[in-house]
Amino acid sequence: MSFPDFGHTCVVGLQWGDEGKGKIVDVLVPYYHVVVRYGGGANAGHTVVVSGEKFALHQLPSGILHSERLSVIANGAVVDPAVLLGEIQSLRQRGLRIGENLRISDRAHVVFPYHRREDQLSERAAGPVEKIGTTGRGIGPCYADKASRHLGIRIADILDPARLRERLSATVSYKNALFRTVYEQREQFDVEAILSEYTAFADQLRPFVCDTALLLREQMDAGKRVLFEGAQGSLLDVDHGTYPFVTSSNTGPGGVSPGAGVPPTSLRTIVGVVKAYTTRVGAGPFPTELKNSIGDTIRERGGEYGTTTGRPRRCGWFDAVAASNAALTGGPTHLAVMHLDTLSGMDELPVCVGYRRGGSIVNRLPADTYHLDGVEPVYERLPGWSESLNDCRRLADLPANTRGYVDFIARRLGAPVRILSVGPGREQTILVEDSAG
Ligand code: GDP
Ligand code: IMO
Ligand code: MG
Repeated sequence: MSFPDFGHTCVVGLQWGDEGKGKIVDVLVPYYHVVVRYGGGANAGHTVVVSGEKFALHQLPSGILHSERLSVIANGAVVDPAVLLGEIQSLRQRGLRIGENLRISDRAHVVFPYHRREDQLSERAAGPVEKIGTTGRGIGPCYADKASRHLGIRIADILDPARLRERLSATVSYKNALFRTVYEQREQFDVEAILSEYTAFADQLRPFVCDTALLLREQMDAGKRVLFEGAQGSLLDVDHGTYPFVTSSNTGPGGVSPGAGVPPTSLRTIVGVVKAYTTRVGAGPFPTELKNSIGDTIRERGGEYGTTTGRPRRCGWFDAVAASNAALTGGPTHLAVMHLDTLSGMDELPVCVGYRRGGSIVNRLPADTYHLDGVEPVYERLPGWSESLNDCRRLADLPANTRGYVDFIARRLGAPVRILSVGPGREQTILVEDSAG
């Protein structure tokens, strides 16, 4: 099977986010007609490097860099209009065409300033142990309001000023009471101020808005191939991740059907993206974390600083237990292994294959993830490589130990590796044919 035969495809992270999904989507886009974000919001930060020029995308699908492709923000994503419009403007200033090639769902929920405030206040109130370390973008409160039904406001609502006033009046009075009584805040939100700001946003968004589920059905019926761009990582999934240290959406491939309104049988291919090591940003268990100079070296070499918040990412060895849990729930048909170049120069590469707790070893993430804080990783040690990989373009260019390391990951996760990445650039990518992989 060659890449053009992949059918409708989903690209998802199998770790705690920032695996390199943006780069993989950018590499695969030429084989597809439509690119869809189906979950998450401005908490995502997807980096694409084209001829040395860096683009960081938060709300827009990475496909937007290919203006001849259709980019869709589907119903399962949450939209912060200020961030989205800012992103559109800055890409236009950099010469990109954004018009007919962008579509936004009329059913997507909208992030408001009170969501950001609630995110920040609830984090502050949680204290140092319970704090999630969110991106502060209002994502959790927006998804919570969506599920509450009384409080959620969708793109279709902001397009209708009378409807928006009605919805906002109810929601803002509830939020003001919450901020006053629970968080003892004196500053209150004003319906009229939000109304005028969001009516202006709505006027700018209107040309892009449509029923994207219907659009995707039409595109699929017309034989167009669709690439679904996952945001966050499978271990941040609200159901299958390290709850409660997760985001508020279904980040794995299971999120595609409700998040985009396509049948669950639509996906032919699921590309699971992993870094050759592990990173995490924000709080929560991380058994293989390296709080030492090796962790610092990986952070500096790999440029491991958050795309959205700039926070230094926590770094550690590859955790095959955690990633294979993500593979178990997500079912990747193929893998992309990123940042192999970052590991050059390490004598040996420990890979976590179990968690030891007391006298027993487990190889599944426990439901109570607070237990993970006390586990000791069981490592299998693989030989490292000293060569720089940045200029490798074929599988045969890679040192034998690099290939051995990649094969080990593939065996542990139970899927073949089809893409290897040896640098941030588009060209620093090795596509593996079936016979070789
Ligand atoms: P995403 O959220 O999954 O799209 O990932 P991010 O963009 O947040 O983080 C991945 C970072 O690694 C970005 O800075 C990429 O440019 C960079 N990157 C991606 N693949 C590679 C690689 O193979 N090697 C190196 N050195 N950097 C990479
Ligand atoms: P991309 O798409 C890495 C993390 C936050 C925090 C937790 C909850 O770039 O991979 P939230 O703001 O969503 O309520 O935060 O999830 N998080 C991410 N970490 N990459 C992301 O997105 C993330 N999006 C959220 O750091 O731990
Ligand atoms: Mg990211």
